[in-house]
Amino acid sequence: MAGSYDDRDGQIWMDGKLVDWRDANVHILTHAMHYASSVFEGERCYEGKIFKSREHSERLLKSGALIDMPIPYSVDEIEAAKEDVLKANGLKDAYVRVVAWRGSGEDMGVASSKNPVRMAVACWEWGAYYGDAKMKGAKLDIAAWKRPSPETIPTAAKAAGLYMICTISKHAAEAKGCSDALFMDYRGYVAEATGANVFFVKDGEVHTPIPDAILNGITRQTIIQMLKEKGVTVHERHIMPEEMEGFEQCWLTGTAAEVTPVGQIGDYTFEVGALTRDVAESYERLVRA
Ligand SMILES: Cc1ncc(COP(=O)(O)O)c(C=O)c1O
Repeated sequence: MAGSYDDRDGQIWMDGKLVDWRDANVHILTHAMHYASSVFEGERCYEGKIFKSREHSERLLKSGALIDMPIPYSVDEIEAAKEDVLKANGLKDAYVRVVAWRGSGEDMGVASSKNPVRMAVACWEWGAYYGDAKMKGAKLDIAAWKRPSPETIPTAAKAAGLYMICTISKHAAEAKGCSDALFMDYRGYVAEATGANVFFVKDGEVHTPIPDAILNGITRQTIIQMLKEKGVTVHERHIMPEEMEGFEQCWLTGTAAEVTPVGQIGDYTFEVGALTRDVAESYERLVRA
């Protein structure tokens, strides 16, 4: 399947029923279009099973609650919607996008409580997020924007508003020939990429930022657990950008990114080393187990 995302064959689950792909539309006066009242999940289905599916559905409900947008579906109902849409599209290996948003209704100002909360689920075939960077080691720019404080915006939500600076930063990165951008946070600590968490290796030990101003990715949590089971020491801590000089290896984790080795961030370079390859391969096996 290729071409524009609004012009494809298939079915999309929308507000409780399957609709033709091209008919999955919303009105221009949808609250979310104007005020970012939207939360979403990105998930991957491997050989017919969505990896950590319930965890994603639970996070969606939590994201909705964090932006004062109660989602009118239970985890079981969201699980059923995902299964229905995968089946309707005949896909076993796919990316799954669940999105919930404030629709159009009586409110067209900033408040939105009179407007219905809507939900849709789409799925499509999607290969490696960083293309061939995935094996060679991705090149990252350093974002000019900073991940905001949790007192500024609910940073634990996977909410549309948090992605505005991701899009700007990724455009700037791509214009420089990079695959992505790495953010620092509002305090200057290393934070995350525009859609993935970051890990570093030094002297056989792993260092990764504390998720106190970033998304605590489901893949991140999976990899930390995996490293601990492998007997690798993991330091979850605040990391200063200058420390990247001394790190030997680096990788990104995320549902879309999976485990992607990083070769360069700004002027700092990393080798695609044995631990990076081992973690990437172990993750590939785990998601299909
Ligand atoms: C900003 C950001 N950080 C981290 C992640 C990784 O999260 P996960 O592993 O749950 O996909 C994502 C992807 O959803 C993201 O968008």
